[in-house]
Amino acid sequence: MLQGKCILLGVTGSIAAYKAANLASMLVKAGADVTVLMTENATKFIHPITFETLTGHKCLVDTFDRNFQYSVEHVALAKRADAVLVAPATANVIGKIANGLADDMLTTTVMACTCKKIIAPAMNTNMLQNPIVQENLEKLSFFGYEIAEPATGRLACGDVGAGKLPPEDELFERLLRAVTPHDLEGVSVLVTAGATAEPVDPVRFLSNRSSGKMGCAVARAAMLRGAKVTLVGGRMSVEPPRFVDTVRVETAREMFEAVRARADADVIVKAAAVADYRPKTVFEEKLKKTEGGAVLELERTEDILAYLGAHKRADQVICGFAMETESLLENAREKLRRKNCDLLAANSIREDGAGFGVDTNIVTLLTENEEIPLPLLTKDETADRILDKILEIRKARGL
Ligand code: CTP
Repeated sequence: MLQGKCILLGVTGSIAAYKAANLASMLVKAGADVTVLMTENATKFIHPITFETLTGHKCLVDTFDRNFQYSVEHVALAKRADAVLVAPATANVIGKIANGLADDMLTTTVMACTCKKIIAPAMNTNMLQNPIVQENLEKLSFFGYEIAEPATGRLACGDVGAGKLPPEDELFERLLRAVTPHDLEGVSVLVTAGATAEPVDPVRFLSNRSSGKMGCAVARAAMLRGAKVTLVGGRMSVEPPRFVDTVRVETAREMFEAVRARADADVIVKAAAVADYRPKTVFEEKLKKTEGGAVLELERTEDILAYLGAHKRADQVICGFAMETESLLENAREKLRRKNCDLLAANSIREDGAGFGVDTNIVTLLTENEEIPLPLLTKDETADRILDKILEIRKARGL
């Protein structure tokens, strides 16, 4: 994803500059070709050698440095760039870029870049809220710059408020989204993930082993590919992806209501492991044990996927999942038909590297007349293959 991508990281004179070192390291580890551009003031906070060691490239500070290949032709770097991130961005540099001032290596290069540009402001709350800074940020936004909303918390000056540099993993995710081809731009995608939990009494519930990893991978991949993503998540052992509108639910009924209210999405991927049964009675008090065994009466839950299939629009693509322990493909094909899905991702939990909790999966994609066995892939890769197929189905329908 970031492999071989040319990323320009602009670092300016804010105390948060030290965090840019971690970000540079994360980007290099992900295979990106990172060049750091610093303002003169930034070098007072962190030494260029830190970035040079991490990136393997000379850190660019002065436009008129003659001992360097880009000194005469700094525009060449701008041309090669796949994305630019200025993090941290001071009020001064934001003001300069917003007003077309370019008097050093960082600002001249940013001005020459035609790729996606992201600005991550970091400063004192009062400075950030200054109407002039706000107007400059709005102007940058108007001209297509992405502004990474500053985080709120304790600032270096001791104040508590907005102005902190967002966490490095958020900035990483923004860059990844910036360099990923947006073939799902303008498409709304609804994804369900995780396990539902059906209460028995105030202490106990019935649930399953789903971690939510596969559904979250689909939601994240769709977000990176430019879709507008909503995730309806049950119990999950992973954090929902960033830049995804997430709705948390517990029970199958809550998931059904949350999905039904958003069922107008262009694409729906139902990766959640929904309970098929719930206790008929939810006891108000904790059940006390008695001598001998016990019987819990269960009733069926709503079949969300079947409901969606029954109400499907012609321009909608619905993908279900099937997790089986026997007769995988026969059961999955039957499910595809019964639930009126366009695509079904079938996996057997009997195979090593597939199923609950792990980061990999072995899935067979089924459509009405196709059967595509995928090899052992990471859940991220599997998610992309599912979205590729969905895109193909949409294209075949002229969408
Ligand atoms: N599903 C759903 N609502 C339910 C049960 C399942 O939406 N109440 C969805 C799952 O999200 C998944 C698909 O249906 O996309 C298949 O789920 P699975 O439990 O494997 O299939 P079932 O239809 O429940 O069939 P069976 O229990 O017979 O395997």
